[in-house]
Amino acid sequence: MRRLLLIGIGAGNPEYVTQQAIRALNEVDVFFVMEKSEEKDDLVALRREICARFIDDESYRIVAVRDPERDRDAAAYAAAVEDWRRARAALWEELIAGELAEDGVGAILVWGDPSLYDSTLPVVDAIRAGGRVAFDVEVIPGVSAIAALCARHAIALNRVGEGVLITTGRRLARDGWPDAVPDVVVMLDARCAFRAVADPGAVDIYWGAYLGTPDELLVAGPVAQVGAEIERVRAAARERKGWIMDTYVLRRRPGPARIADVKDARDD
Ligand SMILES: C[S@@+](CC[C@H](N)C(=O)[O-])C[C@H]1O[C@@H](n2cnc3c(N)ncnc32)[C@H](O)[C@@H]1O
Repeated sequence: MRRLLLIGIGAGNPEYVTQQAIRALNEVDVFFVMEKSEEKDDLVALRREICARFIDDESYRIVAVRDPERDRDAAAYAAAVEDWRRARAALWEELIAGELAEDGVGAILVWGDPSLYDSTLPVVDAIRAGGRVAFDVEVIPGVSAIAALCARHAIALNRVGEGVLITTGRRLARDGWPDAVPDVVVMLDARCAFRAVADPGAVDIYWGAYLGTPDELLVAGPVAQVGAEIERVRAAARERKGWIMDTYVLRRRPGPARIADVKDARDD
């Protein structure tokens, strides 16, 4: 039976690669690499470094294909993502059937952890549901951007007995911050959704960009005090490097002040 390994490689530092991931990397016959037109050189370099550093026997093959383009102008965001996943599934199915021997081991290196805001698992599930090519799947967890962020700020993700909302900048801006949840993790935020927090003096932000890499940036404090600084630092870094990946925790400070919501809901 073919096997497909989805290997979480951590969110930026080669030292985030776990022993389990190293064991898995050394089992692989074929790595499937999706090349994106906007793929950042640094991220490609990190994947290469991981293979060179942790794989003993260099007899593996790399099959690189162009990732299908996603329609970023589409008004219907969810439908555009669905179309893109379908195109990806068709392509990967062809690759698994055509490039992997009946007892071969294929792998996809997944940034951070495969369970968090990553489309690899849903795409693989869709291929298996199609039933045209049979393979086993093994998921190797990785250090997520959230774990890296909390570690670098030395904070616990949740407070005792409390829940945490993990969401995107787009959703926070559109749906607001639920009263019942004191802590929110925001990912995939191109627009600094923290700017719209209703009571910025009573909310702390723990922000990190390029976590785990030599370019790592960290800022923490009340949104009212450090929000503008984060915007400035973020814009300058994005300009300098041409891309940015950042994540943050918004934490309501205990006390009488209540943060009702995120104002200025936008659906961008
Ligand atoms: C498509 S998601 C992938 C998340 C990944 N699977 C994980 O476990 O962290 C990409 C988002 O993750 C966050 N992210 C990933 N790597 C990061 C890093 N090194 N520093 C800061 N944020 C990061 C950013 O919010 C980015 O927009």
